[in-house]
Amino acid sequence: MKLLVNVDHVATLRNARSEGYPDPVEAARICEDNGAAGIVFHLREDRRHIKDDDAWGLKKAVRGLLDFEMGATDEMIDICCRMKPELCTLVPEKREEITTEGGLNMPLIMDDYRTRVLPKLAEAGVPVSLFVEPTIIDMERCAELGVPVVELHTGTYANATGQKQKDELIRLKDAAEAAHQLGIKVNAGHGLGFNNIRDFLENVPHLEEISIGHALMADAIMRGMPTSVREMVAILNEYNS
Ligand code: PXP
Repeated sequence: MKLLVNVDHVATLRNARSEGYPDPVEAARICEDNGAAGIVFHLREDRRHIKDDDAWGLKKAVRGLLDFEMGATDEMIDICCRMKPELCTLVPEKREEITTEGGLNMPLIMDDYRTRVLPKLAEAGVPVSLFVEPTIIDMERCAELGVPVVELHTGTYANATGQKQKDELIRLKDAAEAAHQLGIKVNAGHGLGFNNIRDFLENVPHLEEISIGHALMADAIMRGMPTSVREMVAILNEYNS
């Protein structure tokens, strides 16, 4: 199980003052130096945090796994096919949302992905992950599309409490097991942090990459990025043995 750090928030902070710092590429280097196995960035249509230059800078600088998160617009597909990251995670992107609000609406997107999106990325040799709700039926839909990787949306788990949170862990576990049975690699992300990662890892099997942004960056502001990243990597490693 590997930690991938999402560095979008570093760009958000940089953009708040239109200064050249802090630099998401420099942040990526610090994350990798402190044990992160890779870096995630989301190049949004409105470029509200990561800009094109950041994306290409990350492509050049990241030594581990680079995960290009994006909405499936023709523009993004074109950039991704030229960049050829180790992974392209496709997410639903709404202009007005504060952050990605949930997994892909699979019944709605399947035809378009089958005919327009996936063939182009496959032709460029870019492995694709779909950001999906943790349901068995959506794992089956991903298998039908021939997708090699899924990222389970953990936001509902992260925002729930009590019995609702326990129920969501069961949904995540069942979805992870179904994906694994179908030969699909299981990643997860959204809303994970020091407050909820252990419960999650104790209950959900077959996880390979965990993507964390907001909580890790918030912790890094208080305690320093090397400390935050090293501690999260150490937690993941406890569950690797
Ligand atoms: N995975 C996906 C697909 C996301 O859209 C995000 C948010 O950018 C994350 C993981 C990371 O979520 P968070 O910032 O809440 O850790």
